[in-house]
Amino acid sequence: MSEHDASEEILRLQGLRKSYNVGKPTEVEVLHGLDLRLQRRDFAALVGASGSGKSTLLNVIGLLDRPTAGELLLLGAPTRSMDDAGRTALRGSAIGFVFQFHHLIQAFTALENVLMPLMVATGKPAPEQIERARSLLAQVGLEGLDQRRPDQLSGGQQQRVAVARALISRPALLLADEPTGNLDTKSAAEVFELFRKFNREFGCAVLLVTHDPRLSEQCDRTIELVDGNIESDDALG
Ligand SMILES: Nc1ncnc2c1ncn2[C@@H]1O[C@H](COP(=O)(O)OP(=O)(O)O)[C@@H](O)[C@H]1O
Ligand SMILES: [Mg+2]
Repeated sequence: MSEHDASEEILRLQGLRKSYNVGKPTEVEVLHGLDLRLQRRDFAALVGASGSGKSTLLNVIGLLDRPTAGELLLLGAPTRSMDDAGRTALRGSAIGFVFQFHHLIQAFTALENVLMPLMVATGKPAPEQIERARSLLAQVGLEGLDQRRPDQLSGGQQQRVAVARALISRPALLLADEPTGNLDTKSAAEVFELFRKFNREFGCAVLLVTHDPRLSEQCDRTIELVDGNIESDDALG
């Protein structure tokens, strides 16, 4: 395991609501007052029918979008009243995001793509950061492929690069929105195993949206959204 306290609270939602088109005739509330806690040890699946609010919830938790009401604490810090700069800084240091489509930059090598979040934050990467990116690429099974561009890698390999990129800042929370939805069964299982491994070894909490019951069954915890409410959550303790 990692040097971290497995029971550390990474995320807390308190009465979290999210509406779209606020103040317009089309205003619609999509998340209806959610309460949730994630600890560092958590390896949780977020499941629910299409349209139940999974992506909305992940985007709000990932500080990509703001809640309409309620509070969201990340590493103990209340985020509701934070300004955009504060939210961006916290997102960069605390959260890694993997999407269904990898969004790698085609003109960059695998190594440069993994370094992207650091380059956005600080400019030129330091030698130890480059070393860390190489090490992460090796840990996701891409040793020796650092200089490949995305179009010289398979779909599964590209998604591994995206996983390495999500981990470059040592996030406390890894969010993944259908990260295996675009992969064949074997590649999906391999990418899933990476999340498992980094949850154990780096002590980063994982919240993963998946439609695949074979994957959600392998998570330690399943949180189910039905029409924007948490219908069930089999958290231990
Ligand atoms: N930008 C948006 N503007 C208005 N409605 C939206 C927007 N994004 C999502 N929705 C609506 O919010 C609901 C939840 O969507 P979403 O979070 O994408 O669900 P899921 O990821 O579970 O399929 C759906 O009814 C969807 O149409
Ligand atoms: Mg979605």
